[in-house]
Amino acid sequence: MTIRAQVAGIGHYLPKRVVPNSELEQSLDTSDEWIRTRSGIERRHIVAEGETTSEIAAHAARNALADAGLTAGDLDALIVATSTPDLTFPSAATMVQARIGMETGFAFDVQAVCAGFVYALANANALIASGTARRVMIIGAETFSRIIDWSDRSTAVLFGDGAGALILEASDGEGTPQDRGVLSVDLNSDGRFRDLLYVDGGVSTNSIGYLRMEGKEVFRHAVAKLAASAESAMEKAGVTAAEVDWVVPHQANIRIIQGTAKKLGLPMEKVVVTVQDHGNTSAASIPLALSVGVQNGQIKKGDLLVTEAIGGGLAWGAVVIRW
Ligand code: UT7
Repeated sequence: MTIRAQVAGIGHYLPKRVVPNSELEQSLDTSDEWIRTRSGIERRHIVAEGETTSEIAAHAARNALADAGLTAGDLDALIVATSTPDLTFPSAATMVQARIGMETGFAFDVQAVCAGFVYALANANALIASGTARRVMIIGAETFSRIIDWSDRSTAVLFGDGAGALILEASDGEGTPQDRGVLSVDLNSDGRFRDLLYVDGGVSTNSIGYLRMEGKEVFRHAVAKLAASAESAMEKAGVTAAEVDWVVPHQANIRIIQGTAKKLGLPMEKVVVTVQDHGNTSAASIPLALSVGVQNGQIKKGDLLVTEAIGGGLAWGAVVIRW
């Protein structure tokens, strides 16, 4: 018998304000055409004045609890993947814990930038597999609009805000790829690539800073590293690409998503794509895509999924999960 971390519920939340590319044309030397063709992005959601990461995360959390038919008291642990917490401390996770009325268990943040949700999934899976927790909520939530240099056209057009939440719970599996739940995890990072994607400020430098990115260089690393990690995760799970129903990639750029799918030998019909509507929401992009994919009837119970993400660090990874 194998303990599996099985999906119990999913939900998401997007801030009300939608910013189409045409709005950015008014303040930046850019065009809808450039943004669409280079990134696939058409619009993004941006938080309102005063709206915080823990606030949008709590909305997503409540939606996931409703989907699972659970209350906050049923959770043993809560993990928030974010690089844009409300405060330096306490963690966004404990703030969400208070907002949703979860008074027991434990909560903590994971910071692996755009790979954050994959890292959080790996942590939740380990907590469940080890018997430390039976039911874990994982949230990817970001307000990247707060760390964007809105005068830098090379980054300002790419990012958005949002939150997605997934609940995993312990269940008995046979130890085969037919089990529902997380089947394998592949994590990687290489700090030598720090300067490709970073925020030029932080707590111990007494500044806030803005996101800086060598887009072309990150792009160069992305397809090869994502495909290799997804292949490694599939091998660990004992499944082949031909068996995969859905790839749910980090939504940074449609060209990276297409290039990775091609390298894996999977057609775009098997890829969940939300980048056109959300932009790059960093750690929130995968749970948002999962939630939208379930909502619009693409992802169904029993489907075999591969998620993969790369971001600042560089940090990257992939998870194979049977829904
Ligand atoms: O989630 C974390 C991981 N991040 C990513 O995965 C992002 C990876 N990188 C990318 O998605 C792409 O590299 C970008 C979308 C950022 C850029 O696409 P690109 O095809 O690599 O374009 P580029 O950087 O080579 O820029 C081409 C041109 C440049 O002009 P010159 O030097 O050729 O004259 C840029 O100055 O496009 C110019 N440019 C813009 N033009 C209009 C850069 N940003 C803009 C803009 N509007 N917003």
